[in-house]
Amino acid sequence: MCTKNLPYFLSGVVVKGFGRGSKALGIPTANLEDEVVNNLPNDLKTGIYYGWACLDDQVYKMVASIGWNPFYKNEKKTVEVHLLYKFENDFYGKRIKVIFVDYIRPEKDFTSEEELMRAIHNDIAVAEEQLQQSNMLAYKDNKFFTE
Ligand SMILES: Cc1cc2nc3c(=O)[nH]c(=O)nc-3n(C[C@H](O)[C@H](O)[C@H](O)COP(=O)(O)O)c2cc1C
Repeated sequence: MCTKNLPYFLSGVVVKGFGRGSKALGIPTANLEDEVVNNLPNDLKTGIYYGWACLDDQVYKMVASIGWNPFYKNEKKTVEVHLLYKFENDFYGKRIKVIFVDYIRPEKDFTSEEELMRAIHNDIAVAEEQLQQSNMLAYKDNKFFTE
C-alpha cells in the first residue's frame, strides 16, 4: 500500500466526462473539474483509490480513478469518482468532497471491457470490505464533510 499523501482531501465541481462510464460499463463516474485535476500534487500517485465522498450533505463509500485510463488511452488526466450507491440522476455542476483514504492499485490496460469491469468490481469489493474497519469508518464523520 502507498500511504504517502494519504488521506488526501479534495473538493471540486462535477463535470461531464467522456460518457463511457454509465453507458458502456454501467459504472457511472463523477468527473472532477480541470482546476482540481491540474492542482493535484505531483507526487499523488495515479491509480485506483477508495474512501468516502460527500454529496448534498450525504456521505457515501467511493472508489476513484486518477490518471489517464490506459484502456481508453485518454490524453487528459482525470479524477473520476464512483459512489457506491445507485443514483437516479446525474450530478453535473454539484460540488463533491472526497477523502481518498487508501490506494488499491495502479491503472492498467486490459484486453477487453469485460476485464476492466472485473477489475472495477474487484476494487468495489475491496472498498466495501476495507471501509467497514473502524479506522476507515472514522473518516466518514470527518469535519471536512460538515464544515
Ligand atoms: C474503480 C475504478 C477503477 C478503474 N480502473 C481503470 C483501469 O485500471 N484502467 C483504465 O483504463 N480505466 C480505469 N478506470 C476508468 C474507467 O475506464 C472510466 O471510469 C470509464 O472509462 C468512464 O469514463 P468516462 O465516464 O469519462 O467516459 C477505472 C474507474 C474506476 C471508477
